[in-house]
Amino acid sequence: MSEFQKYFPQIQYLRKKNRSYLDNAATTLKPLCVIEILNQFYREKTANVHRGDHYLSDELTLMYENTRSQIQHWIQAKNTEEIIFTKSTTEGINFLSFALEDFFQENDEILLTEMEHHSNILPWQALAKRKKLKLQFLPVDKNGELVISEWNKVINKKTKLFAFTYYSNALGTRNPIEELIPLAKAENILTVIDAAQAMTAEQINVQKTDCDFLVFSGHKLFAPTGVGVLYSKKTHFEKLKPWQLGGGMVTDVSLSGYERAEPPQCFEAGTPPVEGVLALGSVLDFLNKQNFFETTKSKTLLSYAEEELKKISGLEIIGTSPTKKNILSFILKSSHCRDLGQLISQAGVAIRSGHHCCLPLMKKLNLSSGTVRASFAAYNDEKDVEFLISAVKKAKEILL
Ligand code: ALA
Repeated sequence: MSEFQKYFPQIQYLRKKNRSYLDNAATTLKPLCVIEILNQFYREKTANVHRGDHYLSDELTLMYENTRSQIQHWIQAKNTEEIIFTKSTTEGINFLSFALEDFFQENDEILLTEMEHHSNILPWQALAKRKKLKLQFLPVDKNGELVISEWNKVINKKTKLFAFTYYSNALGTRNPIEELIPLAKAENILTVIDAAQAMTAEQINVQKTDCDFLVFSGHKLFAPTGVGVLYSKKTHFEKLKPWQLGGGMVTDVSLSGYERAEPPQCFEAGTPPVEGVLALGSVLDFLNKQNFFETTKSKTLLSYAEEELKKISGLEIIGTSPTKKNILSFILKSSHCRDLGQLISQAGVAIRSGHHCCLPLMKKLNLSSGTVRASFAAYNDEKDVEFLISAVKKAKEILL
């Protein structure tokens, strides 16, 4: 067992049971620091933040705000207040689709891509309906890559915002943000990056990237569910109206109105996911100590798994971009993906099968039952690949 694996009790548990967890794109396992901080929070330190006049609330508020500055440093944001806590990536995108409502005029356009997760389509569809906007989509080719040469066909003077995924959750494709963001900037188009799958794939630097907004979830970065982050450039604060109203986001309230607090507080109405934020902070400390991006080897594991899977006749890899990371999607000819997925799972390997909340992409690629998706994290190793290959072979014997 590697040093990194030892920090994840569930890995040790799975090994004893001869099982493997390859559903990291859905959620990652949690390291000891998360278990310990949550245990401490629930046993000794439960309190609210920004509200109490007592020692515990003050202590937790400091820890909560300290996590905000840890995230600022992690993604290289210029200012701490550019970090807004949310519940998840989905909430971050919904937030923007409401907060930016007044920024759009009737007939304006929003550009998305055909490889988006439903979370990065449905909120914009609803906004388009409310404000009478038009949605355009940058197409995807059969390899699962964006057809950037079509850029000029999908934008025009009315295009105001481009929201796209950094890494496809279904295929693992890395979209070239260093090419896409300058294209959008040249046309004065705001950019929103869905970084849900990107956080363990590479170290993001929002200043270098020069995106306007970026969203991610804690639970795909080893933190608990229920905590997420929205990064917004400070210069865009005036375009954003608070999308939720309530306690903690005001400086004054009368029976007829309110004065809103300064960002980020005005964007965090209600009790935030306190323990999730603290746990996310503990994860960033842990990953820093582990030199995470230098030591991770999931790219080599992905290549190993792909080579082994390709040896199985009838099996087809879906998404062949050389840039892809962490995610391996495949189908077995003439089998339904759910059947294949169930059999792999029965053999003790946790994977996801189906459309991965990307129905438009699956339709575009003519994948009527979707794909089977194995997704890797830094605590996976060759043994997990061996489990997977053996499970696929067993499944194939039953299905074909
Ligand atoms: N978006 C997550 C996935 O791709 C849940 O599985």
